Amino acid sequence: MGVQTRLVVALDVPTFVRAERLIEALAGCDVTFKVGYEALYGYGPELLSLLEAREAAYMLDVKLHDIPRTVHAAVQALLRPGVSLLTVHALGGAEMLSAAVEAAAERAAELGIATPRVLAITVLTSHAPGDLATLGLAGGTVEIATRLAGLARDARCAGVVCSVTEVRELKAAFGDDFIALCPGIRPCGGAHGDQRRVATPRDAHLAGADYIVVGRPIVEDNDPAAAAQAILAELN
Ligand code: C5P
Repeated sequence: MGVQTRLVVALDVPTFVRAERLIEALAGCDVTFKVGYEALYGYGPELLSLLEAREAAYMLDVKLHDIPRTVHAAVQALLRPGVSLLTVHALGGAEMLSAAVEAAAERAAELGIATPRVLAITVLTSHAPGDLATLGLAGGTVEIATRLAGLARDARCAGVVCSVTEVRELKAAFGDDFIALCPGIRPCGGAHGDQRRVATPRDAHLAGADYIVVGRPIVEDNDPAAAAQAILAELN
């Protein structure tokens, strides 16, 4: 399959010093960094300034899920140069998704920067299919992810966050340009931790994922650069 699958590394570490060390260790690798809850709440401003000083484009994994007005304001407040991807929960609904997309475009124009692509989270990769009914969601993961991706597409989100299991169906339904970004990635034999719908980097690539997100298999390795290079080798 001709798709290029890019590697996003989750900066899921407890201190700024560790994040800085990780960024330096991965300097020679073709990766995009992801700033999520742990980094953002712990030492966000320092980290974002560092990424900007390095002129690195990064993903802001803020997983917004609130009323439309609040999400609109949050996106406006969060946007800064360097944010290339931003996440929201599709379960926030059509109006909230549109508010996020509009705010991103408006604020980017004000700042004179490229508009980040808004990606909508469908079904978290930590949910097993059996968990969905307990959340009141009817259907399997493919069906639910497709329904939520439809909301995201109609709201002009650039794509979705989903598991590798759903990529083929989503691409078939919404087109190859609709971005699929997949967490829950584990190299063969790797510990799953709290992730449930997992796949290898190779399988993600074969399914047509545009991005894979990898945290612990790289971050917790004694040699993060070697771990990242091994994953990049699987992708290409
Ligand atoms: O350590 P691991 O590879 O499981 O990390 C996955 C990363 O992707 C974490 O930062 C997690 O917050 C994020 N993520 C996810 N599932 C989503 C969206 C983001 O696991 N649906």
